[in-house]
Parts: sequence; structure tokens; C-alpha cells
Amino acid sequence: MTSLSIQALVHSPTDGLAVHELDLRAPRGSEVRVKVMASGVCHSDLHLIDGDWPSGERLVPGHEAAGVVESVGEGVADLAVGDHVVLSWFPPCHRCAACKRGEQWLCTGNMCNEHRLPDGSTALSQDGAEVYPFIGVGALAEYVVVPETAAVKVPDALPFTIGALIGCSVATGVGAVLNTAQVRPGQAAAVIGCGGVGQATIAGLVLAGAHPIVAIDLAADRLELARAVGATHAVAGNAPDLAAQIAAAAPDGLDYVFEAIGRVETINQALDLVNPGGAVVLEGLTSLDARVPLDAYTLAAEGKRLLGCNYGSSIASRDFPALAERYLAGDLPLDVLVGSEISLAGAIDAFEDMRHARGGRAVVVFD
Ligand SMILES: NC(=O)c1ccc[n+]([C@@H]2O[C@H](COP(=O)([O-])OP(=O)(O)OC[C@H]3O[C@@H](n4cnc5c(N)ncnc54)[C@H](O)[C@@H]3O)[C@@H](O)[C@H]2O)c1
Ligand SMILES: [Zn+2]
Ligand SMILES: [Zn+2]
Repeated sequence: MTSLSIQALVHSPTDGLAVHELDLRAPRGSEVRVKVMASGVCHSDLHLIDGDWPSGERLVPGHEAAGVVESVGEGVADLAVGDHVVLSWFPPCHRCAACKRGEQWLCTGNMCNEHRLPDGSTALSQDGAEVYPFIGVGALAEYVVVPETAAVKVPDALPFTIGALIGCSVATGVGAVLNTAQVRPGQAAAVIGCGGVGQATIAGLVLAGAHPIVAIDLAADRLELARAVGATHAVAGNAPDLAAQIAAAAPDGLDYVFEAIGRVETINQALDLVNPGGAVVLEGLTSLDARVPLDAYTLAAEGKRLLGCNYGSSIASRDFPALAERYLAGDLPLDVLVGSEISLAGAIDAFEDMRHARGGRAVVVFD
């Protein structure tokens, strides 16, 4: 096995975003090299690019992806060349206290937030200078090297574009409903922010039997898409009569409000909207320096709960194949979530569209 020369999008803190030719070393130990077939454009990548999560390093963005195993390290036990996989950006170390409790989404033993592989290395370089994979994946690239725990085998019948979405927005959105909140049939919910994560949250609410399901966004076409996914009501987030519209849609109030943006104002809006005893689920990620002033008195006096949600409290090895099966069985209408199929270079424009909430989820597809 040799290193490969690959096309990858690179974000440089000084030169911005451009497609570069990089070297990607062979997998070693328990790593696999995966040929990326589809890679979604997620707002977490945009947080990096826009400086919400500053990094002084050159990083390959992308973390919502599916592909085919191209080669394996000598210690790989559970994957073989040719396997179809969905990538996980939070692989379990299987050694930390959270992993031992079965809460892999809280793992403290991977190095994702440092943009490193679990052994602290990177497999990427350019002219001998290291380049790093964003949250340990770097999937806006033709190939990636990841630990085998970050590549989850899925059925060959699963389209790669759908597999890509399962790797982040769908695992997060559906998992927020089924794992984090554990919504029961007949409970009322709203979703603030109907981008990729919010739409997947609505799909999860449909699956859980929630009713009503109120979609809230500023963009009219996002609200239309939300209805196509299964929202029973759609409300403009800046409507002057927002509270009255929500009261009309959900006469008994909202048991859950999912915040899928990561903005201080909408987190407070979610806390205002949720019923006493209800829960706000924080899926959106703020900039690193954001602080949210809370109406702590009301939170305590009305017994409202605020639930953090990393990766939909998912266990990738359990949840990715289950989500794939539910899609293949026709229970999860994920096709409508693929907004456009674009080239690697097209991702630069897709990030600009995302800033303005134009179109649906853009997915880069590779030959
Ligand atoms: N918790 C996790 O594990 C996890 C996983 C993936 C993504 N995320 C985060 O989830 C968030 C959403 O990601 P995405 O890819 O869906 O983003 P996106 O850009 O596709 O969607 C955001 C949506 O919010 C809407 N919006 C913006 N401001 C609004 C306002 N004031 N009121 C109502 N709607 C508003 C936009 O119109 C857009 O439709 C990001 O912060 C991302 O980093 C978190
Ligand atoms: Zn761990
Ligand atoms: Zn993501």
C-alpha cells in the first residue's frame, strides 16, 4: 500500500478555501482508507470556515460522508476492502468511562475536537507540510484515512448520498428525538431551524409519532421542505404573531423544542416556547465564545429542562445500520433531504448558499 495523491478542499486560516492536491498516507494499524463517494456540506464545516470555531491550522473540512473501503491496516478486524461504510466523526475509544458506560457520544478518548486521528497523527500532507482532517474526518476529499471505529458498515443497497446524511445530520436529528429526548407518540414538538439537522429532526419526530410538529425558520423554502418531510405546521421565525401562531398549532403547548441553529436568541426563544416541565434540546452549536443569558428563575420555577445533544446521543455502530434499514424499508423519507448533488469545487459555492439558507442540503458526489 502506498500513499495517494488526492483532490481535497482545504481551509487555510490565511488563504481561505480552495481545492488542493494532497498526499494521503496508507492506513496503518487499525485504520482504514475509504474512497469517499458522497460528502454532505454541514453547518459545522461552515463554523470552521467562518471562524466561529477558530483554528490556526490548515484543515480539510467535511465530516458527513459515505464511501467504500479501499485498503485496511494490518490490525483491522471487522472491515474488508469493498465494504460500504458511513463515516462517524466521533468514534469511540472503548476505554474511557463514557464508552464503558455505553455513552459513546460522550467519549473523551478520541481526538476529534483536536482534528487528529486517535493516535494524534494526521494522514494528510502537502509538500511535506502536515494538513489536518476537520474533526478527525476531512471528508470533502476523494479519500480519507480513519480508524476502523469511524467507518460503519452499511448495506450495499444504501445510496451513498443517503449514507452521507446518516453520517451527521440524520444521526443527529433523528437521534435527538429518539435517543436524547425520547419523544413519545402524541407529544407536541417544534423545531427551530430547518436546515439539514432540523429537517432530519422533523423526520425523527414523524417516526416517533409526535403531534403536532411545528417547523420554525426564516426561509420560506425551508418551511416548505419541512412540510414535505412531515411538519404539520410551518411558522416564520420572525412573524410578529409567532406566539399566537404556535398556540393555534399546538393548543396544549410544546413538550419539546429542538433548537437546530446554534444562536443565542433562538435558544432563548426555545426556552420561552417550551411548556413547564418540557425540554429544549440543543442540537445547534454556537460559536465557541457565545454565552447564553438565561431566565434561570423561570427555568427552575417551571421545571423546564435544557438537554445538550452531541451527535444525537448516537452509537454509530448500532444507529447507522438501523437508520439505513429504516430508510430502505421506506420509514424514513430521506431522499427529499438531498437538496443538490455537486462537485468538490462546487462546495465553495454551497457554503455561500448555506450562509443565506438557499436550497436544501448540498452533497458532493465523487466518481
Ligand atoms: N449537536 C451536534 O452533534 C450537531 C451535529 C451536526 C450539526 N450541528 C449543528 O447544528 C446546526 C445546524 O446545522 P445545519 O447543517 O442544519 O445548518 P443549516 O445552515 O443547514 O440550517 C440552519 C437553519 O437555521 C435557519 N435560521 C437561521 N437563523 C434563524 C432564526 N433566527 N430563526 C429561525 N431559523 C433560523 C436557517 O434559515 C437555516 O434553515 C449548526 O450549528 C451545526 O454546527 C450539531
Ligand atoms: Zn471513549
Ligand atoms: Zn455535521
